[in-house]
Amino acid sequence: MKGVVLAGGLGTRLYPLTKVTNKHLLPVYNKPMIFYPIETLVKAGITDIMVVTGGPHSGHFLSILKNGEELGIKHLEYAYQEKEGGIADALSLAREFAEGDSVTVILGDNTSDADIAESVRNFKEGALIFLKEVSDPERFGIATFDPADPSKIIKITEKPQNPDSKMAVTGVYIYDKQVFDFIDQINPSGRGELEITDVNNKYVEKGQLKWSELKGYWWDAGTFDTLLQANNYWAKKAKTK
Ligand code: G1P
Repeated sequence: MKGVVLAGGLGTRLYPLTKVTNKHLLPVYNKPMIFYPIETLVKAGITDIMVVTGGPHSGHFLSILKNGEELGIKHLEYAYQEKEGGIADALSLAREFAEGDSVTVILGDNTSDADIAESVRNFKEGALIFLKEVSDPERFGIATFDPADPSKIIKITEKPQNPDSKMAVTGVYIYDKQVFDFIDQINPSGRGELEITDVNNKYVEKGQLKWSELKGYWWDAGTFDTLLQANNYWAKKAKTK
């Protein structure tokens, strides 16, 4: 199993903070944001990791992550995403790195204390996504379940206006090698991006999308409010240890 952390983009929702560095290097309490997804991977036993970055401050990652040793990474690679082509476009840059292996992918602005080690260990084929109930489903990829079998997802809709459920697709995914072929088959969405939701729906079409509830704290830290919330959560957790 390989790990991929997606940390590209311009982080425009956090301007002016992201005028001086990449969003994923902003502080979440006492660490840069990207340490959290990396720690989730390392704790799950994944130590062969690629960080996909982009934008004007991508060089900053090297200064802080270096060869990844201090975070427990055994092998760290970097890829550079030329444009803001979306999550699936960023993931496509990990094709050679994956070498036909499965990949656990985490969005660089997602912080979580969930333990995914067992899911990683038991993963065989297809895709496994992690869901979490949210109060604002319009902001996320949202699962629609089969009315006859509520354990089965029949589609995922990206940022639905009339959500079928409150179960959001978190930015933690496990894919087998088919993922790169599925990325080749999708087209840019209305926002001009290759959507990870379209990739997940390819797995749904093949009957190969499984899901699990992400247990523990999870939040993306991509807006001022969620960044503040993530800071508060991790600060409190560090102080109550
Ligand atoms: C992305 C995905 C979305 C997912 C979310 C989780 O949204 O497209 O499906 O629910 O991450 O953080 P974005 O951050 O691109 O708005």
